[in-house]
Amino acid sequence: MKRIKAIYPGSFDPPTNGHLDLIERGSKIFDELVVAVLRNPEKDPLFSVADRRKMLEEMTASFDNVSVDTFDGLTVDYALRLEAQAILRGIRAISDYEYELQMALMNRKLQPTLETVFMMPAEKYSYLSSRLVREVAQLGGSIACLVPELVERKVREKMDIAHKFANGDRPAGKAPSEGKSKSRKKKAQST
Ligand code: PNS
Repeated sequence: MKRIKAIYPGSFDPPTNGHLDLIERGSKIFDELVVAVLRNPEKDPLFSVADRRKMLEEMTASFDNVSVDTFDGLTVDYALRLEAQAILRGIRAISDYEYELQMALMNRKLQPTLETVFMMPAEKYSYLSSRLVREVAQLGGSIACLVPELVERKVREKMDIAHKFANGDRPAGKAPSEGKSKSRKKKAQST
């Protein structure tokens, strides 16, 4: 019998309850689902790819047919390497549709054998995005109920570290002017 393998590519910075909802739905219709974190060196992420992978692994530990991986390059090339037949993407609202359609059609143009499957997360997550989670957390708002508890903890840790730095604390062993002089040096070298 033919087994259907799908990849669920994304940035997941950080993974949210909306992502988890989609993973759960995907795990029910695909035989195998690989959650694939994009390694994108151009972005300035809140979490490293390794951190995101770990969070997703913990979040999906109870799903037997779900695994987590990282990739770079074209999504279609990665999907082919994995011998996947489908790309799973979530559509929360009409506003997602235009971008997702464009991406799905481009992926189809690049690799006609791959199908993009759109699924809708639960309505209660229709306003939820990683970008808003980051923004709310950075501005001191609560992200409980928006992300799994383990992610909330990690985000809070990040915010605490950022807050400490903003208040002048620095890692042990660093002289007060060390960081500054280094960056000045770097600037001087690059100009
Ligand atoms: O979670 P995101 O940021 O909406 O995910 C976007 C993602 C990773 C699916 C998209 O940027 C992507 O597929 N990037 C890999 C490079 C690629 O294949 N680009 C062509 C897409 S048509």
